[in-house]
Amino acid sequence: MPKINDLNLNNWKEYQDILTDSLWIIGERDKSGSHKGDYHGNFIPQIPNQLMRRFTKRGDVVLDTFLGSGTTLIECKRLGRNGIGIELLPKIVEMAKQRISQETLFDSKDKLFSTILIANSARSATRKKVEEVLKNHNKQNVQLIIMHPPYHDIIKFSDRSDDLSNAKSVQDFLKLFGDVISNFLDLLEKKHYLAIVIGDKYTNSEWVPLGFMAMQEALNCDGLMLKSILVKNMVNNRAKRNQENLWRYRALVGGFYIFRHEYILLFQKK
Ligand SMILES: C[S@@+](CC[C@H](N)C(=O)[O-])C[C@H]1O[C@@H](n2cnc3c(N)ncnc32)[C@H](O)[C@@H]1O
Repeated sequence: MPKINDLNLNNWKEYQDILTDSLWIIGERDKSGSHKGDYHGNFIPQIPNQLMRRFTKRGDVVLDTFLGSGTTLIECKRLGRNGIGIELLPKIVEMAKQRISQETLFDSKDKLFSTILIANSARSATRKKVEEVLKNHNKQNVQLIIMHPPYHDIIKFSDRSDDLSNAKSVQDFLKLFGDVISNFLDLLEKKHYLAIVIGDKYTNSEWVPLGFMAMQEALNCDGLMLKSILVKNMVNNRAKRNQENLWRYRALVGGFYIFRHEYILLFQKK
């Protein structure tokens, strides 16, 4: 297998903090440096950190098609990777830019780029813009793609119709999400990885397996091999944390379970 990371496997026992199990129980969120964890719907920095250390090398390019508050690009700066982020909402991009610029480079000798596009990831014009960014830096491909889309309508990020959280139905959401995957798949270097971070949801008391449905969208695209279904613990947001007993009671009465996990779906380009 070609080497796609900087791990020296002659010393493999030294990498105790690199996860290799399919169950990710992560304790405290990393709140160091520019990571604030206050954007509703952000992921914990340990997710991009683990993915980048296992599936990229220093100087590689990481693409995040739903950048939000910039968690992935902050980690890129820390780990010496180039980053391209796409986010629909200009206000959120402002926040991300500020945070990324405040983060210090891993090594000041690194000549890294960190580019954010305010755009809709489902549009082919956006892929062309990413191609231009790569060309300007003498690159052709990206070595890791991270997608952390809205979990359909669980959090409404805006009122815009091109925001995936406003898709009219689960089917519409999946169609748009499938468009995002096929839009960027050509840019992923062969043997490299796509990671989709997503959770399930309830609608009218019925469990909707959004994670598995999104996984099927990726499998429908030619050229991706499923490598892992990782299950990660999820800590409740602040509102729910103060109402744990109430939710336990509701669950007991309603015969349902409270979400405590989400998925990281890992695919390798053939
Ligand atoms: C789950 S959040 C990502 C959070 C991010 N991982 C972080 O740590 O902050 C999803 C993001 O996708 C954005 N979004 C929704 N539809 C989009 C689209 N069509 N193109 C690009 N971004 C979109 C939302 O505005 C939101 O910021």
